[in-house]
Amino acid sequence: MSDAEIAEKLIDGKGFAAGLRARVTEETAELKAAHGIVPGLAAVLVGEDPASQVYVRNKNKQTVEAGMNSLGETLPVDTSQTDLLAEIDKLNKDPAVNGILVQLPLPDQIDPHAVIDAIDPAKDVDGFHLRNVGLLATGRGGMVPCTPLGCLMMLKDRLGDLTGLNAVIVGRSNIVGKPMAQLLLSANCTVTIAHSHTADLPAVCREADILVAAVGRPQMIKGDWIKPGATVIDVGINRVPAAEEGKMRLVGDVAFDDAVKIAGAITPVPGGVGPMTIACLLRNTLVAACIQNGIDVPDI
Ligand code: GUN
Repeated sequence: MSDAEIAEKLIDGKGFAAGLRARVTEETAELKAAHGIVPGLAAVLVGEDPASQVYVRNKNKQTVEAGMNSLGETLPVDTSQTDLLAEIDKLNKDPAVNGILVQLPLPDQIDPHAVIDAIDPAKDVDGFHLRNVGLLATGRGGMVPCTPLGCLMMLKDRLGDLTGLNAVIVGRSNIVGKPMAQLLLSANCTVTIAHSHTADLPAVCREADILVAAVGRPQMIKGDWIKPGATVIDVGINRVPAAEEGKMRLVGDVAFDDAVKIAGAITPVPGGVGPMTIACLLRNTLVAACIQNGIDVPDI
């Protein structure tokens, strides 16, 4: 395949995210000008996990670039659950904080469910609180998890109406797989959630017009598992040894070089789903700030 043929199939998440961030930045400026409100996002990191530190640093930087207040905190790795819950209670009560995000995974001494349950659902910009999960499952809105929301936006941009398409999601996490299924169901797809116990996974994947890979296993989904012309969304971000001694590189859950030959469209890693997640977080923070202040939510 020529470079031009590959380029035509690529779904440019990086570019899409830049466009979304620009729209959020514009609406944030409008909110400030019209109502004197500056949305505030508090990202809470517990410990020093290097990948989480990178995510949170990027979130804080892009929050400020969008014209919002970044009110994040980093707590020591041995923080008790009681102390983290007290911190969340403080953020719940702080009117300057419109969005709260606690970076996962958390250290072992902290139950993530207890933490998620403690976040005010109106400030739950991750969409992980039971109330928001229930609203999504019943098609009643609420805060939608950022990664699946970004995937849905890219799919609609590429394919238009998704009605009647067969969607297969590989992975059943609460963060990606399950909310992705709800969103695609709401978009009138026929949805299958596949996972590590699925019988004949390659055959299930071959039925997919839309294939979302969210398993966290490097290049697990092979080119010949893909239906010719399918749209492939690769949520995986896996660090593997590079050809050059001692270096690492990022790959997705899909064997990209083979998959791109068969798929109709595909997200690259890096530069696909990843940048959309933070852009959607900023969008959710803006939406939360509008709702909390009784202001019409802009259509972004
Ligand atoms: N860890 C990995 N992805 C996410 C996410 O979307 N939100 C939070 N809070 N933690 C994560």
